[in-house]
Amino acid sequence: MKTIKKLLLLLVCMFLVTGCSTKEESVSFVEEQEEILEETEEEDRQTDSANILVVYFSRAGENWEVGKVEKGSTRIVAEYIAETIGADLFEIEPVEPYPESYDEMLEIASAEQKENVRPQIKNEPENWDQYDTIVLGYPIWYADMPMIVYNFLETYDFNGKVIYPFDTHGGSGLAGTVNSIKETLPGIEVKEGLPIVGKAVQNQFEDTKSIIDQWLKENELLK
Ligand SMILES: Cc1cc2nc3c(=O)[nH]c(=O)nc-3n(C[C@H](O)[C@H](O)[C@H](O)COP(=O)(O)O)c2cc1C
Repeated sequence: MKTIKKLLLLLVCMFLVTGCSTKEESVSFVEEQEEILEETEEEDRQTDSANILVVYFSRAGENWEVGKVEKGSTRIVAEYIAETIGADLFEIEPVEPYPESYDEMLEIASAEQKENVRPQIKNEPENWDQYDTIVLGYPIWYADMPMIVYNFLETYDFNGKVIYPFDTHGGSGLAGTVNSIKETLPGIEVKEGLPIVGKAVQNQFEDTKSIIDQWLKENELLK
């Protein structure tokens, strides 16, 4: 499609440039056409990613090996991915906010997991049906996804959608969560996940970006 547009523009340029009376007119005409071409390419990029939603859950405050952070590691990665591929972004927000204290958070998360609870979600994504690709980000809590992420997966219809999971963690990697997503959503396509160390996101994000870019390219989410 892009190639056809380029060829058409080139033909129009060649045809019209021959009709320009001065050299200046020809130069400014060609510059204008180049600008139009750049805008068209940008639109193509946006259109390609209009069907992708980056969904994430993340928590600011005290955390493992990073001290107290302003922005959660998963959120930093999710924002970077959405910006890089031009996709929409949705944060899963709890009705009951989680504490800043790491120790308190450990107790709550442990209880939620043991009791298999589904913490309530405050917000909902707009135009859910418009997306066929979901990039899903979450932190590892006790070698699993936070229970609120299970709630999200069980609340929305994923039929016809493909999930690309990523997590941030303190050493557990993906901790079997890709299989947990598959078990929660039987029949839904779930791609290979990307595990990222939370500490690296907070302290060396420039290095981490290349790992994320590579995963996006491998999955053809980034061209
Ligand atoms: C309640 C809780 C439990 C955690 N359990 C694990 C774990 O089992 N394995 C692990 O590698 N990291 C664990 N971590 C560390 C987080 O996965 C890691 O800090 C992650 O990057 C946090 O992401 P966020 O900043 O987006 O919330 C835990 C953190 C919390 C708060």
